[in-house]
Amino acid sequence: MGKNVLVISGSPKKDGNTALLVGWFAEGVRSGGSTAEIIRAADLEHKAVGCTSCRVCQKSPVYRCVIKDEVSVCVARFAEADVIVMASPLYFYGASSQLKAMMDRMFSLYKWDNAANTMTTPLKGKTFVFLGSGYEDAGFDIFEKPFQLTARYTGMVYASLVVKNAGVSGEIVKLSGVREQAFELGKKIAG
Ligand SMILES: Cc1cc2nc3c(=O)[nH]c(=O)nc-3n(C[C@H](O)[C@H](O)[C@H](O)COP(=O)(O)O)c2cc1C
Repeated sequence: MGKNVLVISGSPKKDGNTALLVGWFAEGVRSGGSTAEIIRAADLEHKAVGCTSCRVCQKSPVYRCVIKDEVSVCVARFAEADVIVMASPLYFYGASSQLKAMMDRMFSLYKWDNAANTMTTPLKGKTFVFLGSGYEDAGFDIFEKPFQLTARYTGMVYASLVVKNAGVSGEIVKLSGVREQAFELGKKIAG
């Protein structure tokens, strides 16, 4: 049976390197009969930037951020996906703020009981994929670390494709083999 792959594209550029990577990855996913839905974080309505740490989600039985905007609706849908993909350009050695603002809302997808030292989440057992690119070749370990560690903490299977020396927006097409790598990763993940 096909997988339900939800891709969060974190670049503000509609036709840049992240969009290309995401597109190639999605082609690979779809080649095997799975579905890939791409949501651009920059297009979503934000009533608050990131998580406000109000903690109301921790007192609720549902895995849902209480801020009433499109980011909350999108993040709640992570629980229904088999695979969650986050894609970002490297911005000053980290993910784009558009993606980070959404990632912080993932707080609502966990319930912590600090007294019992337990954490539960509907994300456990899913697959988490990171697709990244940057102009240079410095800082890629710290760029990827938050995604790797989030997957480990959450109990998700992790995979990534991180492209160094990708050039400015759109120039990633000049790198040989990247399109194939992104396609193959999508195919493998959905297989
Ligand atoms: C605000 C901003 C900050 C950036 N910071 C870095 C950086 O720290 N290191 C780097 O290698 N590239 C940096 N870049 C280049 C982009 O990461 C790179 O060109 C990326 O592949 C662009 O992806 P996009 O076309 O999807 O936006 C930066 C670009 C912008 C616009």
